[in-house]
Amino acid sequence: MNKKVTVKTIQKIKESGEKFSVLTAYDYSTAKYIDQAGVDIILIGDSLAMVALGYDTTHHVGVDEMEIFTRAVARGAERAMVVTDMPFMSYNVSIEDALKNTGRMIRAGASAVKIEGANEHILQVVKRCVQSGIPVMGHLGFTPQLLNTIGGYKIQGKSLDTTLEILEYAKKLEKAGVFSIVLEMVPEESAKFIAENLHVPVISCGAGKYCCGQVLVSDDVFGKYAEFKPKFARQYGDMKSLIFDCAKQFNDDVKSGKFPAEEEAFHLCEEELEQIKLYKKEV
Ligand code: KIV
Repeated sequence: MNKKVTVKTIQKIKESGEKFSVLTAYDYSTAKYIDQAGVDIILIGDSLAMVALGYDTTHHVGVDEMEIFTRAVARGAERAMVVTDMPFMSYNVSIEDALKNTGRMIRAGASAVKIEGANEHILQVVKRCVQSGIPVMGHLGFTPQLLNTIGGYKIQGKSLDTTLEILEYAKKLEKAGVFSIVLEMVPEESAKFIAENLHVPVISCGAGKYCCGQVLVSDDVFGKYAEFKPKFARQYGDMKSLIFDCAKQFNDDVKSGKFPAEEEAFHLCEEELEQIKLYKKEV
């Protein structure tokens, strides 16, 4: 097994000028193959509310569900660092609540958590988590949990003023102790400027090529989620057709009697078969 990826590995990659990859996963086997493929961080994103549970936003998933999915992914990830997204309202009510909920994710097998935003409360949460041994990944730019406040899926950092505002928040997060920051839906040039002015690695989620890390939702990469495809997501496969074709063939085979075949059933030995035949005759 290659050495486990940690916050130190991620910082070293940034310092060496190399890149690292981040994909989401929500179950054991997907996490296992993503891990074997060499992806550095596996994120149990709250995107699972949409792509795995079928809701229309990320708001509908809670701490209990995130804990279950974290346990599954952590069992599949040997080398990759496992990071759990803290769901909507799981860290906003109080510091105590945030510590309790983030602690549950570490106990479930995550090595870090991701938290959106950088207001004064969030900065306190980050500080207290880091002091308690819970590494935190920040998330700025478009923050899906604020969807209703922002008023839609809007690109952030489109002007100098808004770019400087994001940078200011990013610096505060850095000071509070985050080990990396996701920048979502930010123009490439703004993201470059922000990343160049930070010490921690910046992870692009639709923020262009200059960031040190790149994150995508695995269902977009695999071509599994059909409801919505972000402009920045690259589809590498066609899992929805694969699943459809396999399910259709199975359905056809069952109904035409082609499934199961001889070798797909358990069989009695001659002696037991004879006994059944004799018993049948008696009946
Ligand atoms: O929920 C998620 O999957 C995310 C990533 C897209 C960054 O937050």
